[in-house]
Amino acid sequence: MQAATIAFDTFNALADQDAQERIVAAKARLGKRAVLLCHHYQRADVYKHADITGDSLKLSRLASQTEAEYIVFCGVHFMAEVADILSRPEQVAILPDMAAGCSMADMASRAKVERCWRELASVLDPDERVTPVTYINSAADLKAFCGEHGGIVCTSSNATKILQWSFAQREKVLFFPDQHLGRWSGWKMGIPLDAMVIWNPDLELGGLTPEQIRKAKIILWHGYCSVHQMFQPAQIERFRAKHPDGLVISHPECSFEVCKASDYVGSTETILKTVKEAAPGTRWLVGTELNLVDRLAQEVKAEGKTVQFMADMICMCSTMQRIDPQHLAWTLENLVAGHVVNRIGVPAHEAALAKIALERMLAAS
Ligand code: 13P
Ligand code: SF4
Repeated sequence: MQAATIAFDTFNALADQDAQERIVAAKARLGKRAVLLCHHYQRADVYKHADITGDSLKLSRLASQTEAEYIVFCGVHFMAEVADILSRPEQVAILPDMAAGCSMADMASRAKVERCWRELASVLDPDERVTPVTYINSAADLKAFCGEHGGIVCTSSNATKILQWSFAQREKVLFFPDQHLGRWSGWKMGIPLDAMVIWNPDLELGGLTPEQIRKAKIILWHGYCSVHQMFQPAQIERFRAKHPDGLVISHPECSFEVCKASDYVGSTETILKTVKEAAPGTRWLVGTELNLVDRLAQEVKAEGKTVQFMADMICMCSTMQRIDPQHLAWTLENLVAGHVVNRIGVPAHEAALAKIALERMLAAS
C-alpha cells in the first residue's frame, strides 16, 4: 500500500537552512523527472533552485518544450495554468502554494467579461468588430473566451505585435485585464490616447456612452497591478535631477506617465537583458518588482553598474512571495514519495479553447 501524502504541517516550521538542504536532496532524487520553472520576481531563496528562469512569454514557450514529467512552477497561478495547457497531457503542472495568485488577474472574471461582451452587443456586433485580447495575467477561462471569440493572448513582451495582429482581424480591441499595458502598447503603435477608453466592469455599459464605444479603437478594462502603481513620475524626476546621465527602465504595467518618462520600457526579461548588456559604469533606475531589482543590482555590481529601485518604499509581489522554501521542499518531497500535491489542471474543454488563443499568440510573436 502506498504511504499517504505528506502533510504541509510538518514543513511549516522548518528552518530555512533545513528547507534548502531538503530541496537540493529531493531535486537530486527526482533528476530529469521534474523541472523547476521560476519567474524573475521569485524570492532569492527559491530562485536559486530554478532550472529555467524567464518572463511569461519565455516560460510559456519553455513549458511547451520541456520533457519533464513534473513542471513545478515557482510563479503565480495563471503561469502554472499556461504550463498545464501547453504541456502534454501526461505532464503534470504544480504550483507549490495555491495561494500564489495574481491580484491583477483577479480583476477580470469570465462572468464580467461575458457581461461586457453582451453589453457591447447593444451598440455594435462585437464578434464582427472587436478582437478580445487578454494579457497572459488572466485565468484560463478568459483565455478560453478569447479562443472562442476570435481573440488572442499577449504578454508584456509582445503586446504591440499582438495588437497589430488583432487589428488585422477586426477594427477594435477589447483589452483585459491590464489597462496600462493596453494603453502603452496602443500608444506605441500610434493610437491616440483619446481613442482608448476605460471599461469599468462595475458600471452599466462600462460607464461609457454608445458614442464613446463607437469611436474607440481600444476598450481598456479597468484593471492594474498594485505593485507597479507604486512607481511615480516624480521618482524619475528626482533621479534625473541627481544623475543627469542615468538611465530609466520600466515594466509596461507601470502607468502611462511612468512609461513615457522612462528611456526603455519592457518585460522582466527585457529589463534584465538591457541592463546586463549596458556599458560598464552606467547607472539605472528600475521600475519593477524588488526581488528582480535587488538580484540585478548584485549581478552587475562587479562591472561598476549601479541599479536603483524606483519606489521610495518596499513593494514586492506578495502573492509570488508565497512560494517559499518550505512549500517547495514539501512539494518536491511528495513527488519523491510518489504523490502529486497542488496539481494545476485546467478542465479539458476550457484548456482546448485557451490553447487556441495561446497558440495564436505564439505564432504571431
Ligand atoms: P513579465 O512577463 O514581464 O515577466 O511580467 C509578468 C508579470 O506579472 C509582471 O508583473
Ligand atoms: Fe500579478 Fe502584479 Fe504580481 Fe505581476 S507583480 S504577478 S501583475 S500582482
